Amino acid sequence: MEEIKLVKMYMDDVIRNEVIKVLDTGYYINGPNLKAFENDFKEYLGVKYAIGVSSGTAALFLSYYEMNLKPGDEVILPSHTFIATASPLAFFKAKPVFVDVDPDTYCMDVEDVKEKITSKTKVITPVHLYGNPVDMDPILEIAKEKNIKVIEDACQAHGSEYKNKKVGALGDLGVFSFFPSKSMTVGGDGGMIVTNNDKYGEILKLRRDHGRSSKYENANLGLNFRLNEIQAVIGKLQLKHLSEWIERRRIIVQVYNDFLRQYSNVKLPVERDWAKCSYYVYTIQLEDRDEFIKFFKERKIATGLYYPIPVHKQPIIEDLYGKQPKLPVTEEIVKKIVSLPLSPLLNDEELARIKLEINNFMRRSS
Ligand SMILES: Cc1ncc(COP(=O)(O)O)c(C=O)c1O
Repeated sequence: MEEIKLVKMYMDDVIRNEVIKVLDTGYYINGPNLKAFENDFKEYLGVKYAIGVSSGTAALFLSYYEMNLKPGDEVILPSHTFIATASPLAFFKAKPVFVDVDPDTYCMDVEDVKEKITSKTKVITPVHLYGNPVDMDPILEIAKEKNIKVIEDACQAHGSEYKNKKVGALGDLGVFSFFPSKSMTVGGDGGMIVTNNDKYGEILKLRRDHGRSSKYENANLGLNFRLNEIQAVIGKLQLKHLSEWIERRRIIVQVYNDFLRQYSNVKLPVERDWAKCSYYVYTIQLEDRDEFIKFFKERKIATGLYYPIPVHKQPIIEDLYGKQPKLPVTEEIVKKIVSLPLSPLLNDEELARIKLEINNFMRRSS
């Protein structure tokens, strides 16, 4: 029996051939493919600037750098996220202030954000986790009122919409990841920073390439965070499929939801009226989660855990900032969450096998 993977990577002959063409040109960085990918991404999001970088983490690092963070400045972010939302802050000696999440959407709890704003808050980083958009309006409103910047971590949310607008383009800066498992990839690591702000857009184009103002002159501080031509051509071609892939993801989610609704012990994902979730992953909650994972593993069906240890409880965070205040919802859900296989390439036979094994598990445990 073949393993059902959590995610299947898309590749086709068009992409293969274009990669070979790039290899044959011998022109590997800062070329036409990067420009084309950035232009297409910009158009897709309806945003003024899209700047290709080497990873989502690089995108976050550069975005936080642009915020001119000083030691002790505070950044509000959820703990229920990937470590990279928080880790760049330590390089600027800024302090992460973790907020709890909404137990239905897994996104930051807006009321907790409001409570944790202080005179030192410089940035709020909403994370559109699992592709589910954060309720942005109240965050943008309070940020404007208090002169706080907003960096959207849209690393899991390519094509997700908030009130009919694509996420990533709503705050001051937005960041995306093209890590291989993401809804679209560049065949390795890669990222994108997007903004409508001219100042950020122009400077970030330079910073990702040593702050170079011309070939030999470095007028600005920068490092090497470039996205290369091979990655860019893959990204450009993958982006063409993104809308159709999101629709396929949403159909599979509907199949999962319709099937799982019969089990009262399963908590399904929630999509708010104003949200269009791109479903980077499909996450449910179960009391006997660990047993479920084991049962599935034995039957060669992969499951995912995004994420078992919340960021505020990670050893490095406690080392750097001390023990963090409790986040009751986050600490509770991380014991119950599990993600099922989901990708546009998941086929009907695989879905039927997954449903059958869910049913076997439920019968076994009841
Ligand atoms: C929410 C979130 N933030 C940041 C990142 C970092 O992106 P990357 O792996 O491309 O560095 C990821 C992806 O892994 C992510 O899921």
